[in-house]
Amino acid sequence: MRKFALLCMILLLAGSMVFAQGAQEGGKDFIGLAMPETHVERWQMDGAALKAAAEELGYTAEVAYGDADQTKQNAQISDFITKGADLLIIGSVNEGVVTAVADARTDGVEVIAYDRLITGSDQYDYYITFDNFKVGQFQGAAIVKALDLANATKADPKYITLFAGSPTDNNAFFFFDGALSELRPFVEKGVLKIVGPAPLVSSDTANFTRIATENWRADLAKQRMENLLNGDAKNYKLDAVLAPNDTLARAIIEALLTDAKYMNDLPVVTGQDGELASIQFIKDGKQAMTVFKDTRDLAKAAIKLADAILKGEEPQISGARLDTETYDTGKKVVKSYLLEPVNVTKDNYVEIMIDSGYYKADQIR
Ligand code: BGC
Repeated sequence: MRKFALLCMILLLAGSMVFAQGAQEGGKDFIGLAMPETHVERWQMDGAALKAAAEELGYTAEVAYGDADQTKQNAQISDFITKGADLLIIGSVNEGVVTAVADARTDGVEVIAYDRLITGSDQYDYYITFDNFKVGQFQGAAIVKALDLANATKADPKYITLFAGSPTDNNAFFFFDGALSELRPFVEKGVLKIVGPAPLVSSDTANFTRIATENWRADLAKQRMENLLNGDAKNYKLDAVLAPNDTLARAIIEALLTDAKYMNDLPVVTGQDGELASIQFIKDGKQAMTVFKDTRDLAKAAIKLADAILKGEEPQISGARLDTETYDTGKKVVKSYLLEPVNVTKDNYVEIMIDSGYYKADQIR
């Protein structure tokens, strides 16, 4: 009897050892999802959609939000590595992430840069995002159309002021350069005048820095708009404001609405992300447009990419364009998969944002 009990104990012990090992290696692969922040609504959608998509394919997944603090995000990444992550999907805060990416490589953990390129590193191989230049082109084109710049004259020019996203986010340069590729010809013709700092390309660092918004902070954009209204823009009536995303667009609109000149006559303000509050603003005629990047699609595509990498297969990401030339980290050009953004206005927001199931009709008043 005693022998039997001993045998049982040995079997139990062996079983638990196999189980422990299984959870680490033979069991479900673990994907760590490091998202940069929550103050911009989309990232919560990204986090949730990534986790759901990973679990649907049989992975274990966990999301962490970095609160726009790279030190915090690096600790979260290091925690994922310690927990035995097989792959990390990282929407980084800034370039300070490179040390964490290098640690991942040392530990044999694959990294996918998610939405934002990780610059300054050659320690990872994949990037998945939307066509960021095109996002900017939609914004610029919306202004060209709304202001009828094709028929504007030098004698009666239109006035615009420029905002850009965070200078620590590689996307901000792409959005801006895309927008300016549409606007620049009219500036050069003298029919569109820039009020305030006037970079025409993001590589004009001195001026770009002056229109950029550190960490995409709404309070900073609002304050800058207020300063412009009392300063450079005081003696003009602005026809447009180039705003890089919805969070900043609404902050800018808030500032504009405190100025009697604009209370009932807002300039054309652009946006990006299809945030609920901005869809409401578009419906109400306060914001001119947004660019929708369906986070459900990006999340699904990223998990598909992760799955292929983990299985050692060649990734086939339907709906994404493979780009092996554009995205240079400064250390190497990474293989990039680009999804298509969608231009959203008053005319199509119901179809794009509601009929697609992204929002429910009763979420908009
Ligand atoms: C994303 C945008 C977002 C911004 C602020 C960018 O990297 O592409 O969708 O609005 O970050 O979070």
